[in-house]
Amino acid sequence: MIKNSKLEIRNLMSSIHKSVLFEETIEGMKLKNGSIVVDATLGGGGHSLEILERIMPDGKLIAFDQDGRAVEAFRKKIDADARLREYGEKIILINENFEKIKECLEDLEIAGVDAIMADLGISSDQLEDEDLGISFRFDSPLDMRLDRKRELTAEKVVNGYSEEELTKVLREFGDEKYAKSIARGICKAREEKRITKTKELISIIEGSVPGMYRRGKIHFATKTFQALRIEVNSELEVLKKLVADGTEALLKKGRLAIITFHSGEDRIVKNLFRELSRGCVCPPELPICRCGREPIAKLVTRKAIVPTEKEVEENPRARSAKLRIIEKI
Ligand SMILES: C[S@@+](CC[C@H](N)C(=O)[O-])C[C@H]1O[C@@H](n2cnc3c(N)ncnc32)[C@H](O)[C@@H]1O
Repeated sequence: MIKNSKLEIRNLMSSIHKSVLFEETIEGMKLKNGSIVVDATLGGGGHSLEILERIMPDGKLIAFDQDGRAVEAFRKKIDADARLREYGEKIILINENFEKIKECLEDLEIAGVDAIMADLGISSDQLEDEDLGISFRFDSPLDMRLDRKRELTAEKVVNGYSEEELTKVLREFGDEKYAKSIARGICKAREEKRITKTKELISIIEGSVPGMYRRGKIHFATKTFQALRIEVNSELEVLKKLVADGTEALLKKGRLAIITFHSGEDRIVKNLFRELSRGCVCPPELPICRCGREPIAKLVTRKAIVPTEKEVEENPRARSAKLRIIEKI
């Protein structure tokens, strides 16, 4: 039998990554001993460790991360801790994109789960990783793939997309107001030579935006880098799949909690959750319902939960975080 020592388990959390909206997400999932839970974004394991606290000894945790290093690091944490080791097969770590949630649960012969959570985006550990090329603080190869098995890299996007395609990516995924001129700058620079390193891209962006923007509060390359990362990892497409397949995988009264970090992600979650919670769509003038449509889930959070000022002060990554939760009917 495993001794329950919250403090000891919490000590295992990543020393670098600070989980965002932590209590709100954990409480929002209504976990109890015996719950079967999917953590779709294991990362440093902060949320997963707390989930284990709540659902063990009889529960089951299935944790996904497309980054093999996050999975390996968590496996090591388990191996190094006698109490976690005792959970054995009740902790299942999967090095896959969460878009595979349906297939993976079927393979595991798990018919339904009590809760699913996703804490989207990247961890602080990944941001600190020079090889990934997602931070503009280092001079790294333009890669940005969280899953190294993917074909598309940031280098291929930057050197292969047309000016129109680049503008669309920067505008839609980065909300970048200088999308057009940055895209033009990229296309002009690559006529001279292929763009391969993050610092080269940064200097192109620097030369494509006005001085005021260069001296702004947020680094002028932030939005371009975010947009390229989203494109390379198909982040919005896989999110739509997670909402659809995740909701299907939930048991009755099961909960799906998603933390987003930018407006594009939040818009998708908000709209899909609203769709899932909609019943009859007949025109109001019809005396009786003809469509027969029933809601699949109910909104637990009518408005997104956002971090307190204190949390943002302590963890700037929380700045744009939003948490939304639904419950399967
Ligand atoms: C913000 S971190 C999660 C942090 C974690 N909740 C914690 O408390 O330590 C996001 C993690 O999710 C992973 N990730 C992002 N999108 C994913 C996807 N589509 N499928 C699987 N893992 C994904 C990233 O590789 C990263 O490790």
